[in-house]
Amino acid sequence: MKFFYGYLILLGVASLTCTTAQDSMNSTSYSYDSYSESECDHAILRAANLLSSWTYPCNGILPHYDKANQVTLGMSLTKLRGLDLFKGTIQMNVWMNLGWSDPRLAWIAAECGNANITKLHLPPSEIWVPDITLFNSNSPSESLMSGVSAIAYADGSVLYIPPMHLEATCTMDLTDYPYDQHNCSLKWGSWAYDASLITIDSLSDSIDLSETFDHPIWDIINTKATKHTDFYSCCPGETFEDVTFSLVVRRRETHGRIASSVVTAWLILIVFLISPSSAGVRIVFAGSVLIALVVLSAALSAEVPAYSTTKLGRFLIVGMLILALVSVVNGLIYRFYPKEKPGQLIEGDGSSPPRVLLIIDIGAFLSTAIILGISTGALFV
Ligand SMILES: *[C@@H]1O[C@H](CO)[C@@H](O)[C@H](O)[C@H]1NC(C)=O
Ligand SMILES: *[C@@H]1O[C@H](CO)[C@@H](O)[C@H](O)[C@H]1NC(C)=O
Ligand SMILES: *[C@@H]1O[C@H](CO)[C@@H](O)[C@H](O)[C@H]1NC(C)=O
Repeated sequence: MKFFYGYLILLGVASLTCTTAQDSMNSTSYSYDSYSESECDHAILRAANLLSSWTYPCNGILPHYDKANQVTLGMSLTKLRGLDLFKGTIQMNVWMNLGWSDPRLAWIAAECGNANITKLHLPPSEIWVPDITLFNSNSPSESLMSGVSAIAYADGSVLYIPPMHLEATCTMDLTDYPYDQHNCSLKWGSWAYDASLITIDSLSDSIDLSETFDHPIWDIINTKATKHTDFYSCCPGETFEDVTFSLVVRRRETHGRIASSVVTAWLILIVFLISPSSAGVRIVFAGSVLIALVVLSAALSAEVPAYSTTKLGRFLIVGMLILALVSVVNGLIYRFYPKEKPGQLIEGDGSSPPRVLLIIDIGAFLSTAIILGISTGALFV
């Protein structure tokens, strides 16, 4: 209860300071009529300086306490910097677009009647700026106070468009890599004020992409902006509003990565084109295909975390297992196949190979082909 009174008193003192300062400024009466038009600019500048001295105690004080302060929020994406698949973050450069109304500023802008100055550029540190925050930010330093000016209009509306570098967390499903697409959200809301004091509306139902530069890897497929009402465990009974911007990005054309893996894996079948009588050559060939698959997996694991969760990673692992089995089978064939005598090139001459080896060979060929077919198909479903 004590706390509550303290708060009331603080509020009272602060608003008193605001109004008295405002009154005294009115009474000292900077009569802008006595300035010529060009001088009026300087007068306004001076007014802005004055303004900073009298609003200073007010810059933490809401414009309205009797009703909710309405803030409109828009986001314009200027550059998608990229997705960090390992950290699970999306990085981008944006212009936030905040609009609200602060009647304490309307008075100043309306003063300079003759010069018809309808707006003032004010440093955001000198005025009240809503504490809109990115809730799922991954970097601690983001702040709306970027140092660019806010624009106050004669009617008291304020427009503030700070450019920001954002890094937000984003849940990513990499199963379909390299055909993956991700839906990343940015949740913006007032950090401390509930919906009875600050309400947020989105300026449009999507992210503005008119200023966006293309990203070499990611294509922006779709964007959305939706307003939500949230409840938090800190503050039972209070509702908080937020606007969540989401964007869906898809990796650009990457058939190359799939193609190199598929082609390499299917090379395994060439092992069976080589005569079983030279099973040693078969093993050497299988070994070189295995090395190629290991190199491809290494390249994949450098690009994607936990690469075995991707379909492509699983395909490569299956390829390596097949190669291991093929090598074992050919090791057996090599061990038990009748050796050719030197200079005897025609196959089948001399002692005929045991039939069981030929059956194993054909069986291994067929099952390799079937497993390769199934796992290649699984890449694309
Ligand atoms: C400031 O002065 C104008 C006219 O000089 C008056 O209409 C207005 O009410 C005054 N504002 C305050 C806050 O006293
Ligand atoms: C001041 O400018 C606004 C628009 O720029 C115009 O609507 C208004 O009539 C002008 N006022 C005077 C006094 O010239
Ligand atoms: C992203 O996912 C959220 C939650 O599932 C959904 O509300 C939103 O519409 C999606 N965004 C897009 C652009 O489809």
